[in-house]
Amino acid sequence: MGRLVIVSNRVASITPGKASTGGLAVGIGDVLGKAGGLWFGWNGETSPQSPEQVQVTEHGNITLATIGLSRKDYEQYYLGFSNNVLWPAFHYRSDLIRYQRDEYEGYQRANLWLAEKLFPLLKPDDIIWVHDYHLIPMAAALRAMGVKNKIGFFLHIPFPTQPILTCIPPSSELLRALSHYDLVGFQTPSDRQAFVDCLTRESGARKLDEDNLQMEDRVVRSGVYPISVYPDEIEDQAHTAASRRHLRRLRQSLLDRKLIISVDRLDYSKGQFERFRAFEKLMEIQPSHRSALSMVQIAPLSRSDIKTYQKIRHDLEGEAGRINGRFGDIDYTPIRYINRNYERSTLMAFFRGAQVGAVTPLRDGMNLVAKEYVAAQHRDDPGVLVLSRFAGAAAEFDGALLVNPYDTLGMAEAMHRALTMPKEERKERHASMLQQLKTNDLGAWWRRFLGDLAV
Ligand code: ADP
Ligand code: G6P
Repeated sequence: MGRLVIVSNRVASITPGKASTGGLAVGIGDVLGKAGGLWFGWNGETSPQSPEQVQVTEHGNITLATIGLSRKDYEQYYLGFSNNVLWPAFHYRSDLIRYQRDEYEGYQRANLWLAEKLFPLLKPDDIIWVHDYHLIPMAAALRAMGVKNKIGFFLHIPFPTQPILTCIPPSSELLRALSHYDLVGFQTPSDRQAFVDCLTRESGARKLDEDNLQMEDRVVRSGVYPISVYPDEIEDQAHTAASRRHLRRLRQSLLDRKLIISVDRLDYSKGQFERFRAFEKLMEIQPSHRSALSMVQIAPLSRSDIKTYQKIRHDLEGEAGRINGRFGDIDYTPIRYINRNYERSTLMAFFRGAQVGAVTPLRDGMNLVAKEYVAAQHRDDPGVLVLSRFAGAAAEFDGALLVNPYDTLGMAEAMHRALTMPKEERKERHASMLQQLKTNDLGAWWRRFLGDLAV
């Protein structure tokens, strides 16, 4: 196989110990650590003008090639079309779409510019793997420059159904852009189905068989590749000396109280607000939990330059304060609401220390936290995963307690059931999910995708 070239908007820091948040960065960081290759994308910095130079650094078998964005590209391509149109639309929040034509033009311009910067770094037998919604036009841009390599695309977030996709004014152009990839990968069967439906209904593509569509002179191949984790590594991480120390600190601070843990970027798609309400409802309907239960919500700040993100932050701060005011005591804070990052092993130890993992997004491509929570549990005394039916992970985890995050009472009841579940049932549910993780780990995700792309 040729060299692997990963292209994504966000390139993670691979400095040891420095945590990256976001499933894409965590997943790709891991893949490249094992397979080696080049990772090209934005370095997270902005400047008044577009920088000329790509910075190339070597880290063992990984080459990082990164570049800054001009302020205008940051605003139009990243904040604008990517995160004020594609992100809300693909997460079924058409009410939050803020479309402006010049930002879409900026999105195309930035894709073209990034393709031009990547072009000189490419070798003829490279396998190019483009990731996520920021870079949908990348294959068409590279093809126009004469790139003949295999180019695959993986969408980390959900793919919306036709009524939602078509709220995006240039939806047909996006579908056409996706048809230039050799292989388009999705997290779940329903995401792939939505893509196939959109392409046939909106773009006149013809179904050849289960995997292939004919669109004009191109065959568009698609597949389902659920991203995952390495469960054994997570179990080890949850066990390192440093993480055991953190776990001790957490336990000491809890004073025998039970713990519900949630970890997600501060994002309206993650359902944190609805989760706080469900926790409050739990306190109302089961007074025995008052003073005997804490919730830790770790929510690193994300995309803070966007208004909808500023609003959810404001709302969550208010809600945590209100609920803590209502049920707290001089020595008891019901919700511990934290915006900071933790090292991965520390986070895994926190998962291990929690009787319940509450992963209740309103919509999510996969949700790696759900998988990490399961992998980090003690096999003889595991915690229970309360999982939104709208997370991609729900398609794989029959051992979770599935909830509808719009049903506050239903979520509160599921949390109560999880907190009082007999050990035998917990072990059975956990074993089935762990088995699923072992069969379909992170290695299976990238090996299957790259294997299919190579054909
Ligand atoms: P998303 O990609 O939408 O952010 P995922 O759940 O798929 O959601 O991935 C999030 C990743 O980021 C997980 O691997 C999680 O462990 C990591 N993460 C989230 N919050 C933190 C944090 N505060 N510190 C360190 N890692 C975090
Ligand atoms: C999700 C997206 C990624 C993105 C990450 C963090 O995981 O699928 O593409 O990188 O969130 O968001 P950010 O906007 O900070 O890159």
